Amino acid sequence: MCGIVGYIGEEQAAPILLDGLAKLEYRGYDSAGMAIYDGEKINIQKSMGRLKVLSELTHDGSTMPGCIGIGHTRWATHGEPSDANAHPHFNESKTIAVVHNGIIENYVKLKKKLTDKGYQFLSETDTEVVAHLLDYYYKKNEEKPDRIIETITKVMHRVEGSYALGIIFQDQPDRVYALRKDSPLIVGKGAHGNLIASDVPAVLKYTRDVYFIDNEEIACLTKEEISFFNSDGESIEKTSKRIDWDINAAEKGGYEHFLLKEMYEQPKTVRDTLNPRIKDGQIVIEELGMTDEEICAINRIHIVACGSAYHTGVTAKYIMEGLARIPVEVDLASEFRYRNPILQKNDLVIIISQSGETADSLAALREAKEQGITTLGIVNVVGSSIAREADRVMYTWAGPEISVATTKAYSAQLIAHYLLAIHFAKVKGMITDEKVADMITELKALPAQIEMLLANKEKIQKMANRYVGAKDVFFIGRGIDYAIGLEGSLKLKEISYIHSEAYAAGELKHGTISLIEEGTLVISLVTQKDLYLKTISNIVEVRSRGAVVFAVTNEDNTEIEKNADYVIYVPQTNKYFTNSLAIVPLQLFAYYVSIGRGCDVDKPRNLAKSVTVE
Ligand code: F6R
Repeated sequence: MCGIVGYIGEEQAAPILLDGLAKLEYRGYDSAGMAIYDGEKINIQKSMGRLKVLSELTHDGSTMPGCIGIGHTRWATHGEPSDANAHPHFNESKTIAVVHNGIIENYVKLKKKLTDKGYQFLSETDTEVVAHLLDYYYKKNEEKPDRIIETITKVMHRVEGSYALGIIFQDQPDRVYALRKDSPLIVGKGAHGNLIASDVPAVLKYTRDVYFIDNEEIACLTKEEISFFNSDGESIEKTSKRIDWDINAAEKGGYEHFLLKEMYEQPKTVRDTLNPRIKDGQIVIEELGMTDEEICAINRIHIVACGSAYHTGVTAKYIMEGLARIPVEVDLASEFRYRNPILQKNDLVIIISQSGETADSLAALREAKEQGITTLGIVNVVGSSIAREADRVMYTWAGPEISVATTKAYSAQLIAHYLLAIHFAKVKGMITDEKVADMITELKALPAQIEMLLANKEKIQKMANRYVGAKDVFFIGRGIDYAIGLEGSLKLKEISYIHSEAYAAGELKHGTISLIEEGTLVISLVTQKDLYLKTISNIVEVRSRGAVVFAVTNEDNTEIEKNADYVIYVPQTNKYFTNSLAIVPLQLFAYYVSIGRGCDVDKPRNLAKSVTVE
């Protein structure tokens, strides 16, 4: 979490940093700051609050002249959101400024050592130790020929934890330094200057040529050049990558919110993730790199992820087990890594992540690799840590997702799971060519069906208006419908702040039903034909206790009208693909309820898009 940027070039740095921070605000937004070298000294402006507070404070950057600088947008970990805790942080003589994304785990020990040496701390952050540590080694290395790189590598060896750091030194005014371990960092090579950032969208306006910095690497940027070093301070070569994203993907493009825009991008996302993998009527997942023998030998699949990505994993379990008859375990990454999971030869570990940087998911991937298990990343961000470290990568082609709450990346992940399950089932001889052909036809119909659901938003909007004041909402469903409910519930609660819970419909009466009272909204997912009657029984149970029921079901299930107060029909599709359709009204419902409550839907409180801390 947190976003860092840096610039060195011919232009004024502050407006470029503010622009870059705006693209990174999804990573954290409780405070922001910049450090700019004005030709004589480094000036820092920082403030608690959204980036717009910093923009106002600096008159859009115009009160901070200079062509070299670093900036930060914060998601607080150590120390509450406050002006003092906002980044950048200075050393005592204000000659070194630092911005940081990550957590310095041994900061207490380092702080004690530095305090004993007389250093005084002005903030409660872990980051400030880096500024003082740099100061300490910079002074100590005075005689060394390559003093700065010596200093930085020394600091690198002393700090434990995760970091992407941007640093400027007053007496090295023609350079910006950056380094990373376990937090993302890229360097952009522009025509009129060079940049550092936590993520690609922050530099896209200025360049498409990007270097992905690996763990324990250092970048040194001047106006014209970029050089790289390893953790021993030795010079290394790196090759840049050309980013071919549509720059508009990181802009709102006329929509009021990124969240709404991204929901409306789902048909395209589904097409882009699906179409390249369908060739001559067959599913071809080239990047999987697994032979038919290897697929047939898979003993068990472990799907590991967090949040919404985990919810796609829950859906995938039903599909992979149903179609390919391969046992699937789904784990929250934060649990998987500490439960000493039993992984066996011929198991496959699938890590799902939009950002490719989620700390727990990355740690789970490393745990699996350490045990010698083949890993597959289903990842959206190209070149992210999970994409680079997994044995195999299947990209979801959703493009940049800016809204903190995921929608289009979630939809793309579902498609990746469908493709894998059908492919594995086919290779194992569990389904016929005919069946595959039918399923491909159904998959290809999904984008248009999603478009239709998005176009018919009025009914949802009206319903949402009625429930802006809801206190508790329950989502119920069985099988895949339960998985859909998990995501619908998360979407609603994370952006509207209304308490909601998803329950396996049959489980409700084992406790939770006591929470149902007159007028409680229960959203029922009823898309699995073989479970219609079972779920309807559960609907009847809650309705007879006063619940108002909103059902999302298939077009053929008109019987439900007798048992529900509101019904939204989704088009007919294969039973395994219903999540892709049923989630759309739930996303719209969450969006309109939240707008009605005046919530900041793109940046819900306390959240950040990329969770790079445990
Ligand atoms: C919810 C949401 C989160 C993410 C989770 C994992 O709307 O976006 O729950 O799904 O933080 O993030 P990634 O997919 O980047 O690993």
